[in-house]
Amino acid sequence: MYILGIESSCDDTSAAIICDGVVLSNVIANQEVHAKYGGVVPELASRAHQQNIVPVVDQALSRAGIEKEDLSAIAFTKGPGLMGSLLVGTSFAKSLALGLNIPIIGVNHMQAHILAHYIKDPESKQPPFPFVCLTISGGHTQIVKIDNHFKMEILGETIDDAVGEAFDKSAKILGLPYPGGPLIDKYAKLGNPKAFRFSKPKVGDLDFSFSGLKTGILYFIQKKVKENPEFIEENLYDVCASIQHTIVEILMDKLKNTVQITNIKHIAIAGGVSANSEIRKRLVLAEKHWGWTTYIPKFEYTTDNAAMIAITGYLKFLQNEYSPMSTSAKARLKVTE
Ligand code: KG4
Ligand code: ZN
Repeated sequence: MYILGIESSCDDTSAAIICDGVVLSNVIANQEVHAKYGGVVPELASRAHQQNIVPVVDQALSRAGIEKEDLSAIAFTKGPGLMGSLLVGTSFAKSLALGLNIPIIGVNHMQAHILAHYIKDPESKQPPFPFVCLTISGGHTQIVKIDNHFKMEILGETIDDAVGEAFDKSAKILGLPYPGGPLIDKYAKLGNPKAFRFSKPKVGDLDFSFSGLKTGILYFIQKKVKENPEFIEENLYDVCASIQHTIVEILMDKLKNTVQITNIKHIAIAGGVSANSEIRKRLVLAEKHWGWTTYIPKFEYTTDNAAMIAITGYLKFLQNEYSPMSTSAKARLKVTE
């Protein structure tokens, strides 16, 4: 049984083929067009999806070595995301499914980030229920308790910015292009994480706040550049390492609170920021130091990808959970919906 997954919620156009939970192909077209604007421009994103969708799906099929007629169902991201972007994937999935006379399966992008852990892969272990997932992306920062594949509960979340935004906005302050998260990660490896101190936010046990940290970093950089115009160039690696260290400390503190409150020691991470090398390292250490069992997604399933949409579609397919043709894209959608 072959399932095609399509992801187009933000600025990556992706298509993947899954067969019985195993990924046969996962093709991603990144959109370079946004880099010079310092963030995703919605109108440009939907235009690029429009150009990319057919070649990306074509490649996913040919890399999997199958024809479109072999497909059993088409899963697509129905939300949350940018409406213009979502519409491209949704309309394409519907038309192709109509042409092939096969069902469509609408997938919640945030559930898919979490359920990527159920992609069958000899290098990854699958979390048993219940487990807790720290979902960290450009749009979300949540602690979610997962009772079964489709029963999820939000235990805590950000009251303002997402952690990915904290990375990207800090990078922008330092004059780095969008998305800055991966660059901060890269430069942090060369710097001293204790060189500069930024204060951590004070919010509820399992909630997050990153807007104060962003403002703190902005004022700090402005003050330093006033004293020495070369400050950023001379201290880039140390600043990146210190920012990353502060953010990862905040995330780890919240995970410690979660384990204390829920007594669940199966801890997963998901979403684009779970590609961060520091958080990945800290979770490996947590197994040794605190007896947690941690689930770290394979690098290619951290940032937006269609393999996670296809696996979620597959899990729904097994339960005969299809969507009607009247299904529409939803810009806002909670992980529990
Ligand atoms: O999940 P994702 O691809 O898209 C959303 O659904 O938002 O996440 C994108 C976010 C961006 O903010 C990007 O800067 C961040 O993930 N990111 C990273 C790293 N790789 C991607 N942040 C920190 N370190 C990384 N290595
Ligand atoms: Zn995402």
